[in-house]
Amino acid sequence: MVLPTVFVLVCFLLLINNNGVDAFHEIHPHLQSVSAVSVNQLHRTGYHFQPPKHWINGPMYYNGVYHLFYQYNPKGAVWGNIVWAHSVSTDLINWKPLEPAIYPSKPFDKYGCWSGSATIIPGRGPVILYTGIIDEKNTQVQCYAEPEDASDPYLRKWVKPDAYNPVIVAQEGVNGSAFRDPTTAWLSKDGHWRILVGSRRKHRGMAYLYRSRDFIHWIKAKHPIHSSGKTGMWECPDFYPVSLQSIQGLDTSVIGDGVKHVLKNSLDLTRFEYYTVGRYFPNTDRYVPDNTSEDGWGGLRYDYGNFYASKSFFDPSKNRRILWGWANESDSEYDDKNKGWAGIQAIPRTIWLDKSGKQLVQWPIEELNTLREEEVKMTNQKFHKGDYVEVKGITSAQADVEVTFTFSSLDEAEPFDPSWMNAQDLCAMKGSERPGGLGPFGLLTLASENLHEFTPVFFRIFKAPNKYVVLMCSDARSSSLRQEDKMYKPSFGGFVDVDLSDKKLSLRSLIDHSVVQSFGAKGKTCILSRVYPTLAVQSQAHLFVFNNGTEPITVENLSAWSMKSSELY
Ligand SMILES: *[C@@H]1O[C@H](CO)[C@@H](O)[C@H](O)[C@H]1NC(C)=O
Ligand SMILES: *[C@@H]1O[C@H](CO)[C@@H](O)[C@H](O)[C@H]1NC(C)=O
Ligand SMILES: *[C@@H]1O[C@H](CO)[C@@H](O)[C@H](O)[C@H]1NC(C)=O
Ligand SMILES: *[C@@H]1O[C@H](CO)[C@@H](O)[C@H](O)[C@H]1NC(C)=O
Ligand SMILES: *[C@@H]1O[C@H](CO)[C@@H](O)[C@H](O)[C@H]1NC(C)=O
Repeated sequence: MVLPTVFVLVCFLLLINNNGVDAFHEIHPHLQSVSAVSVNQLHRTGYHFQPPKHWINGPMYYNGVYHLFYQYNPKGAVWGNIVWAHSVSTDLINWKPLEPAIYPSKPFDKYGCWSGSATIIPGRGPVILYTGIIDEKNTQVQCYAEPEDASDPYLRKWVKPDAYNPVIVAQEGVNGSAFRDPTTAWLSKDGHWRILVGSRRKHRGMAYLYRSRDFIHWIKAKHPIHSSGKTGMWECPDFYPVSLQSIQGLDTSVIGDGVKHVLKNSLDLTRFEYYTVGRYFPNTDRYVPDNTSEDGWGGLRYDYGNFYASKSFFDPSKNRRILWGWANESDSEYDDKNKGWAGIQAIPRTIWLDKSGKQLVQWPIEELNTLREEEVKMTNQKFHKGDYVEVKGITSAQADVEVTFTFSSLDEAEPFDPSWMNAQDLCAMKGSERPGGLGPFGLLTLASENLHEFTPVFFRIFKAPNKYVVLMCSDARSSSLRQEDKMYKPSFGGFVDVDLSDKKLSLRSLIDHSVVQSFGAKGKTCILSRVYPTLAVQSQAHLFVFNNGTEPITVENLSAWSMKSSELY
């Protein structure tokens, strides 16, 4: 039987330089190989992928089997000793661990096997390109690996032929200490494969383009496919086509009419990602963002919370493009060591171009619904200012909730101050406890019975001169009574570009013990938060709906489900 073949590789963060420290990533050599003594079960997720213990930051799928490759420290819960760990699944929900696929073993990767991507070559099978580290100065080269036995359904063993490797080294003019994370390749009409490699020149972030006929010999194009000033190192670039006509995904090599392209970069300096929607010109190998897509720090983000080093792949078995991201931890490395693990994968998301053509839309893969049980509903319930009502009858610490809110007028919307450029700052200024006009209204997730702890996910609507501005927040500031100074508890926020003419707003939140992953307006704006409640744990966690605005809000309908745990190892 011929099985569909799909490959994904989530990108991995690679942040060590000569001094051992780069950007925001702290290195803790004394903890790198300290094995976890115990594993914190209280906050362990039930259906988000994470290894049984230790540190993780990246994911992947093949041969009717989805493959997850992720950067993993087999010896400790902080960054170090990185290998390509490997798990497989047939449904993207339940996973089986295998032995690491790629680990340092050759002169061209002796000091590390960092991120990369897989490509399925028609008639030849899967191939991985990854970044190898050749010395203690973290000099980066691109390496080639292929399955030892392509008929093994799990592709357990990978070989790195000496005859080819490394396949790309940084030539003159390219900074070999900032040269990593090759993308999935696309095949052009001229018969050449093309890939991008993330880099920087001074403060300008860029993605170099390379071409090859055989995947072994690669030639650098004269110009990067794209670059942008003052964005710093581009990690984990991702480049793919999206359809203007349909929500179905496209194979990475598709180009032509009715197709736009998306370029995503992970910005090392702040560790957030942004993307643009634009046009790819194959003749000149240039990518030009549309004038509706801001190119830089203020640009569109897949997710306005803990979400980094993501990668997408095309799944031909269901004609969809799936996005995988990595969610880092909120507390210190010392905590990570004590918990015994750090980092989870976000729930894979189907991703497509919005009807407007200006942004992407994301939604949890449909397979997730197989974990739903015990549905409870609420319909046509009105919430006046200050009201909050518990959603009872589900396991609120491990749940999925979808809700549609309606209101009868936009008149109460507060005026929007044009200086409010940054949604996250605005959420910090106008939290759920600050009563408003139209909103705040939404959900209180992972709430303790008396609301000493809670993570509100909510909307506020403002009136600007010619439009309404919708703000979506996921506020971790009251999520935990713990006061460790290194605990990261931000009030995340993003704007939602949504038409309010039907006076409706929808929200979906996936709650899983220490993660709240939310999708506003059917997936136009997404926010993932890691939170560590002390009271609102296990059966002590509650879920509420609330309104703190003058305009009454109606829950038109709400469905909430307890979620089963998936098999994760
Ligand atoms: C090359 O990259 C390294 C690591 O990001 C950086 O420290 C160095 O300043 C870069 N050199 C130049 C000339 O940009
Ligand atoms: C997690 O990510 C956030 C933002 O992406 C960053 O500010 C924070 O420092 C990261 N935390 C750790 C422990 O890496
Ligand atoms: C943006 O580009 C479109 C064509 O793609 C053009 O019609 C429009 O005028 C441009 N808008 C601005 C503000 O430049
Ligand atoms: C709603 O506003 C009141 C008054 O400011 C505040 O005490 C309460 O905590 C708010 N509710 C939420 C869920 O933040
Ligand atoms: C709520 O009703 C809308 C139709 O108005 C429907 O599309 C949606 O699926 C319903 N949502 C839930 C959670 O039942």
